[in-house]
Amino acid sequence: MKKSVVFSLVYFVTMAVMLTPMSILGTEKSPPASQEKKEIYTPAPKASPRINGPLVYGCTPGKPFLYRIPCQGNRPVRFTVKGLPKTLKLDPSTGIISGKSPAKGTYALTIKAKNSKGKDSRELKIIAGDKLALTPPMGWNHWYAHYDRITDVMMREAADIMIKSGMADVGYNYVNIDDCWMNAPKNNDPKRVGPLRDDKGNILPNSHFPDMKALTGYIHDKGLKAGIYTSPSTLSCSGFAGTWQHEEQDARQFASWGFDFLKYDLCTYHRIAGKAISLEDHQKPFRQMGTILKSLDRDVVFNLCQYGRGEVWKWGGEVGGHCWRTSRDLGFELDRIFEVAIKNSEYRTYSKPGEWNDPDYIQIGWIGNASKMGNSELTPMPAAMQYAYMSLWSLMAAPLIYSGDMSKLDEFTLNVLCNPEVIEVNQDPLGECGTVIHRNEKCFVMIKNLVDGSKAIGFFNRGEKEAAVSAEWKELQVSDKQLVRDLWHQKDLGIFREKYIANVPAQGVVMVRITGKTK
Ligand code: GLA
Repeated sequence: MKKSVVFSLVYFVTMAVMLTPMSILGTEKSPPASQEKKEIYTPAPKASPRINGPLVYGCTPGKPFLYRIPCQGNRPVRFTVKGLPKTLKLDPSTGIISGKSPAKGTYALTIKAKNSKGKDSRELKIIAGDKLALTPPMGWNHWYAHYDRITDVMMREAADIMIKSGMADVGYNYVNIDDCWMNAPKNNDPKRVGPLRDDKGNILPNSHFPDMKALTGYIHDKGLKAGIYTSPSTLSCSGFAGTWQHEEQDARQFASWGFDFLKYDLCTYHRIAGKAISLEDHQKPFRQMGTILKSLDRDVVFNLCQYGRGEVWKWGGEVGGHCWRTSRDLGFELDRIFEVAIKNSEYRTYSKPGEWNDPDYIQIGWIGNASKMGNSELTPMPAAMQYAYMSLWSLMAAPLIYSGDMSKLDEFTLNVLCNPEVIEVNQDPLGECGTVIHRNEKCFVMIKNLVDGSKAIGFFNRGEKEAAVSAEWKELQVSDKQLVRDLWHQKDLGIFREKYIANVPAQGVVMVRITGKTK
């Protein structure tokens, strides 16, 4: 076939997919994103270094340590770190710090980065003790893009792209496998069907995952971390091997493979173990796994997935969890994001360093359809709403786990995912979830206190037309002179007395940080 014919065909098919009507894509409300000109809010990163990432990082003394300094700017960059404990070493060209976590204590580091265009420096506190995930976990999970099509090759590709796309340079670091890496008693794909365990009871990955240790090694070599999934039930939610009565054996297997994160998904557990009646029944499988994970020779971040049952936000931390889903799957009904966020923020007082409420993943770019389990499609969500989505998750201190197709990331999607000033709000060491104040039926503000005494404010508009939404300094109990910085556009808007009124696009956001001024 001639090149031009092939091109026309590819163009036609692409356009046909991009212009698929909303009714087919599953929501009737908003115009397809592809018909809209998507305004890019955030300027491109500068060529000179900008060090990003959390200000605090938790680890357990004596366990393996791995931290890749998130830093934007042209490569090569030369890194130096002052105050590094003796048990750790830095690779000055990659910015990867590795070794064994130091003895109990707080270690104040000064990180420096230099390239041909300039330099930057940033403080980081390593807190060696008994707490992990001092800031919300950030990374990628395969679920909403690939469902039961996930393979080792796709996981490696996601890790490559996390680095190449610049996502890792703003702090994304977990590369997490969800369900369907194990064998299933039955599945459409024969390569995923086989014995669930070997004769010693060890869980067996399916043939799309030939070598788990090599996979985590590949991810770790990039300075990134690896996550895995299982269920306390006999089978996972998608019908793959669960961990029932093999809890300790599986957890040790995951650690020996090198995993750093475990999503533990309730699924049909109570059908096997008996209906959950008491609080103890709700807690049991998670307390059991939480205790096992603490006894391992690796730090493993523990992600509870039980859809908010038994008011998990009240006890998730106590049973060893670091984050927990507060509701059912976000699925493909993405017009629910405002409602889900408002509900999630009702549990705001339970959000704190090491203990995070999780309203589910960030689904933008190319995502799948949970109910159809089909190939991924470009999200129909309007551009303004995508910025609102990321703002809400940041203001709520929710885990920032992207779950779209990494191989199809475009400039717009990366712009939404990778603004370091917005992410800094999410990663703020106070760990507060913002407070919601409703202005009217359509508009609300979300206000989050930050560690330096400043506040982040999201002005949200759920309506179909632009709206003016205000915040008064008196109501926020701040002094009457505030420097207002627009975080999405990374621009100071000036000093405002008494209040700020934002013109918020339909279904969108204006997100600012306000800092008190005495002069
Ligand atoms: C449940 C979880 C999802 C995903 C699937 C996998 O629905 O809530 O996040 O892990 O199971 O089967």
